[in-house]
This record gives sequence, C-alpha cells and structure tokens, in this order.
Amino acid sequence: MLTKNSRIKEIYANPIGRDIINRVLLQMKISKKAINNPIIGNLKIKDLPKLLKNRLDDEFIDVLLNLSNTEKEIVRADEGPIKKAWWKEAVFYQIYPRSFKDSNGDGIGDLQGIISKLDYIKKLGIDAIWLSPIYDSPNDDNGYDIRDYKKIMDEFGTMEDFDQLLDEVHNRGMGLIMDLVVNHTSDEHQWYQRAISEPDSKYGDYYIFKDQPNNWTSIFGGSAWNYVEERNQYALHLFSKKQMDLNWENENLRAEIHDMIRWWLEKGVDGFRLDVINYISKSHGIPDGSESIGKVMGLYGMEHYFYGPNLHRYLRELKEKVFMPYNAFTVGETPGIGMEMSKLLTAEDRNELDMVFSFDHLETPGHYKFDDYRYDLNYLKKYMIDLMENYGNCCHPSLFFENHDNPRMISKINPDPQYRNVLGKLLAVILLTLRGTPFIYQGQELGMINQDFKTIEDLRDVESLNLYRELTKSMDKDKAFKKVLAGSRDHARTPMQWEDQEYAGFSTGKPWIMMDHDYKNCNVDAQLNDEDSILNFYQKLIALRKEHNVIPYGDVIFTNKMVKNLFTYYRKDENEILYVEINLSPNKKKRAKLPEGERLLSNYEVISLSHLQPYEASIWKIK
Ligand code: NOJ
Repeated sequence: MLTKNSRIKEIYANPIGRDIINRVLLQMKISKKAINNPIIGNLKIKDLPKLLKNRLDDEFIDVLLNLSNTEKEIVRADEGPIKKAWWKEAVFYQIYPRSFKDSNGDGIGDLQGIISKLDYIKKLGIDAIWLSPIYDSPNDDNGYDIRDYKKIMDEFGTMEDFDQLLDEVHNRGMGLIMDLVVNHTSDEHQWYQRAISEPDSKYGDYYIFKDQPNNWTSIFGGSAWNYVEERNQYALHLFSKKQMDLNWENENLRAEIHDMIRWWLEKGVDGFRLDVINYISKSHGIPDGSESIGKVMGLYGMEHYFYGPNLHRYLRELKEKVFMPYNAFTVGETPGIGMEMSKLLTAEDRNELDMVFSFDHLETPGHYKFDDYRYDLNYLKKYMIDLMENYGNCCHPSLFFENHDNPRMISKINPDPQYRNVLGKLLAVILLTLRGTPFIYQGQELGMINQDFKTIEDLRDVESLNLYRELTKSMDKDKAFKKVLAGSRDHARTPMQWEDQEYAGFSTGKPWIMMDHDYKNCNVDAQLNDEDSILNFYQKLIALRKEHNVIPYGDVIFTNKMVKNLFTYYRKDENEILYVEINLSPNKKKRAKLPEGERLLSNYEVISLSHLQPYEASIWKIK
C-alpha cells in the first residue's frame, strides 16, 4: 500500500501514479527524466508539493495515493509478436451524419446521404466506418443525448434506411461501427422519465440521484446537478443539463444496456466506439471533489469518475457477456486517461477493450482546447516516440488528429494558406505510417480547415454556447467569442465539402450550420481531378499502407530523436524497410543524408539533395 511516506519512485512504479505524475510534469514543463534522478526519486511523496513550490497541495497527494492504490501492476510492454487482427490493419473513417450528406434537402445530413457516398469512401481505401450517433434524440448535444436506443433519429431516416446502409457497407467489403453512448441518456429517455414519475419502480435507481448536490461541475459548465422537483432530489449530469448520468452500480440497468447492445450486434454491426466509457463508474456515495484539483482543472469531481472503482469490472462484464460472443470490435473514448491506464484498459489478456482514444496529443503542454495558440509539431513527435516505444505489443494504439470534438488540425498548427496542402499531407503521413489504427475524420482527407464564424449566432454547439454565456459574465463579448472560437467543436461540424456549388453539394437546402466560402476551392470534386490534391495523396497513401505489411505490424525505429523539427523513423520487418523523413517546420531543414532507395511518396514532387522543403514528408523504400 502506498502512503505519504512512499518514495516518488515507488509511486512512479505504479501505473496510475506514473500517469498522474507524468501529466503534472508535462503541464509544468518538467522533463520526465527528473524522476530518474535518485535525489528526486528517493524523496517522499509528501514532499512533492514543497518541491513544486506549492503548485500542488496535500489534497492532491491524497487523491494521487487513493487512485494509485486501486492498481498495482504496470502492464508489461510485451515485445512478443503482435497478434494479427482485422482492426489492426484497417483504416477507419468517422462520419458525423448531421454534416456528411443530405439527401432530402432539409439541410441536415442523413442515412440515404451516407449511402450515396459509400463508393467515395470505398475508393478512398477505407476498411471500416465509425458512425457518430444516429439514434432518436432531442439533439441537445447532436445525438449524444439518446432518447431511444432502438430508433433512428427522424431527421436521419428510418430503421429500413439503417438496414440498407449496413448491407451496402458490408457489400462493399467494409465494416460499420456504431457510437455507443451509455454513460448517460437524454432526460427524455423513457428510463429517466419513469425514474422521475415512478421512483419506486425498477427505474427509480437507474440514474444518479442525491438529496443534496455535491460540488461536482459539468464538463459543459455550471453545476453537474439538476433539481428534480418530482423527487425533491438532484440528478447528476456530467455533460449538458439534458444528458443524465446512468447508475452503472445497478445490475438491472447494466443488463438492459447489455440487451440493447446485443440487439444491434444481432443486426450485424461490427463493433462500437464507446463514448466517454471511462466515466461510467463513479466513487461510491458520490463524494465531493477536491478543491485544489477542481481549481487547477476547471472541473470539480473528475478524480471520482475518470478512472472509477468498478470501471474494469464493468468493461470485463461487457466484453465477456456481450462483445466476445459476437467477436465485436471496441474502441473506447477515454478522456484524461494516460498511457499506463490505457494499457490496463486494452492489454489483450485483460479482456476489456480493444483500443482507446486518448487525447494527450491534441494540445501541447500548458495549453487547453480554448487557448488560441499555435500547436508545435515537435510535441507530437515526442508524444509519438513515447507511444511507439512504450505501448508494447499486447496493446494497440489508435491514431487520430481530428474528430467532431476538436478544431481542425491544420488550423491549429499553421493557418498560413501557402502550407495547407503540404501540411495536410504531412499529417496524413504521420497518421498512416506509424504503428496503430488510423482514424480519418470526414473532411480531413481534403485538408478542411476551421470555419470563419463571425458571431456567436453562427455557432450551434451546446459546449460553445454555454462557455460563451459563462465567459461573458466576466469579460467583454468580443474577447469571449474569440476564446470560444479557438476551441469550438463547430469548426469540425460544418458540412462536408463535396462540390463548388451552393451549399457545397452537401444539401439543396440551407444547412443546419453555416459554412463559409472555403468549399469553392476545397471540395471533393475539385480534388478528385487534381493530381496534387490532399485527397489524392490520402488515396495513394492508404493504398501504400495496404501494400506494406510492415506498417501495421513492423518495428518502429526512430532516429534524430533530439533534433528539433526533424522527425525520422524506419519501419522494419524481416521483408522490408521503409524510411519516413519529415520536416516539422515551415523553414527548410538541412537533410542529414539522402536515403539510398526509392522514394515511394512525398508531399513535394521535386526534392532537394541538401535540404528538406518546408513541412516536407517523404516515404522511402530502403534498398
Ligand atoms: C464525447 C463525444 O464525442 C462528445 O461529442 C459528447 O458531447 C460527449 N462525449 C458527451 O456524450
């Protein structure tokens, strides 16, 4: 058992301790190597706050110890051969249905729209599609607030449309995974309605009610509790006021969720992306969150649910009772989870999830999503080296830069239009040549960028609108809007740009969210006809990935690790060696030495012998 008298190195030998310490060091911009220094490693953990000049306090140490004591062993970075699996070789494509393709002119994407574009997706080289939620929903959070798990949202179509979609995906040799949102439901779900109207029925305990609210805050702002008059109690919502957290401690509820998932598996879906799945288990009794962590994180209570006491048990139960019999694939969305915790959730012999999405690479240290700053690719390099070298062969990483919850990556790195094309391709190279399963978010294959929203009325997302309301209490409107704009999820939610015609060929009617004029230059139609386009590059790169088995399964060997702005690595197995050479900056970079071999693909047609071009990314086959 770890105590306040345990040494820092002992805490660091614990998986949770290590992840939390790493995160603190990262935010404080202190190198992890500090822990290897015997003077620091041998200090007692209770001395850490003093060492960090009281940027942490004793309460933080208590939380660190409590969480660390829930796990003992670090998952070995097993170097045995990687076990083969279809999803380790697959390239996934995420569709945000509301904004992908509208077939009936109501300005909202739908299932028939998706069906009409399956050939496009197939031609890109995609193996499996992840569909953001399409279930019946009042759309407080665009479908992440489900009213009925077994019904399709009216705006998206019918269950017949869904069955057709699934068939047509399968007929093209692709897989389909659904979004599974089971941390919460809409407050309009009948379970919640009955929990309120019939508190003594079995539903009465399906959600998390308390006589008094505690200090937890919602991820979308404000208190995490709604007063429920009918019960004279408070109900928990970690997200919007209409997304009520389910009580996973209730066995009947878990059994209902299992049944619902089986129902979709019986239809033939190939797996699921599990929404905020690491939040499903909350500390028993729902105690107050730590004040100091709340202040630092801007979120109270998270230490009681981001890695809750029964998380592993619930996941194993799901896997054994539901996913395993159908051989279904799972990728968990796990915000706040570090590398060691990811391993604990995905190591093959632990029977929990196949993969997770962690988010540590999406912001550089010291920055948050709503900060307006330039993302330094050298951080991505450092992150990827760590991930590739330490994740081990019994766990498999997911690779992604974009999704429906984050601004577009090119805009974060360098919005200068002269680099858009090469930067979009550079990101593709990193995504598709490292070891891990790549996820491409719709529009990323075109190099779509952040939208030019002009006023708060242009935004639709509940998170952005809540934040704006909160910020304008203490700052002027322009400043608040600018901050919201830096991180707004709406940047990624504008319609897919298909053609240079009104509404970008997304719809014949006015889209549900504004779009600027970018579609005139950046659209599928134009890029299909342009040899040098980002889209064509993605197509070639995905094809290349499929020809070279070394990419999903081979070793990754990094060189020039300490050289700023240079990211180079070999992919190697017994049959072949590939070499990837990337300039992470917009300036020319001296080339170490021209590789001996054949250049397979590059974001520059002509390269120089002495220098890498700005943001050059080239893949070589070594003799
Ligand atoms: C994560 C989803 O990706 C996001 O869009 C949603 O708002 C929250 N989970 C709540 O479901």
